[in-house]
Amino acid sequence: MSVAGKARKITTNTLQEMKDAGEKITMLTAYDYSLAKLVDNGGVDVILVGDSASNVMAGNETTVPITLDHMIYHAQCVVRAVDRALIVVDMPFGSYQGNSRLALESAIRIMKESGGHAVKLEGGAEIVDSVKRILTAGIPVMGHLGLTPQSIYKFGTYTVRAREEEEAEKLIADAKMLEEAGCFAIVLEKIPAGLATKVSQAISIPTIGIGAGAGVDGQVLVLHDMLGITMDFSPRFLRRYLNLSEKIEGAINEYVDDVRSGEFPNESEQY
Ligand code: KIV
Repeated sequence: MSVAGKARKITTNTLQEMKDAGEKITMLTAYDYSLAKLVDNGGVDVILVGDSASNVMAGNETTVPITLDHMIYHAQCVVRAVDRALIVVDMPFGSYQGNSRLALESAIRIMKESGGHAVKLEGGAEIVDSVKRILTAGIPVMGHLGLTPQSIYKFGTYTVRAREEEEAEKLIADAKMLEEAGCFAIVLEKIPAGLATKVSQAISIPTIGIGAGAGVDGQVLVLHDMLGITMDFSPRFLRRYLNLSEKIEGAINEYVDDVRSGEFPNESEQY
């Protein structure tokens, strides 16, 4: 049986064993109880309570506005639903950058108040002090390199990162630094596939890619994008497994018509 198949609950150790055994890791986002339950039942290994909640749940243009309290609320909802998957919670913008003490306090709040299993931070050398300080409290940390959406106002666009040699070299050095600091895995977002493969071979902890090709140790997508709930975002890397927005809108139109025409409720739907 596969490593993931044997695990009653997925832990950071399971993910390492999966990489070592050449087994791909699956990760999806979730932000609420009902969908998190479906994602867990579907057999996903890692559920990310992503700060993409800022976009898909709150309707913000970027991930910058979401707060620590918001992230803890979403994580609490997910934790109540999940039996098997490892739950990783994004630390939001402003809760860890440039201040390792604040980072530790924020991470402790996430763990204590939500019941999540690990936290994720964006960045490399700039945030490694925060990563190390969080790890001193025994809190597992996932890194995130490449396109780091919390820095959108520095990048200016959401295009592919690290195409140039200098940025690619920094990314490899950052990945090694995060591994050395003690991260249990690293998300690689929107970087050339060749570079992502190189990083995955250069470090021994798992890499999870989004728009980073097939040479990484696992894949992650934003749930609302892959289910086709959000339709205004169609990057090349995104595979839509459903077109739920069409189905949901169709069902709602039908309901509206049935109520207006008096077709709903019928005799068997009343007391
Ligand atoms: O917030 C998020 O959904 C993420 C993924 C894109 C990896 O960080």
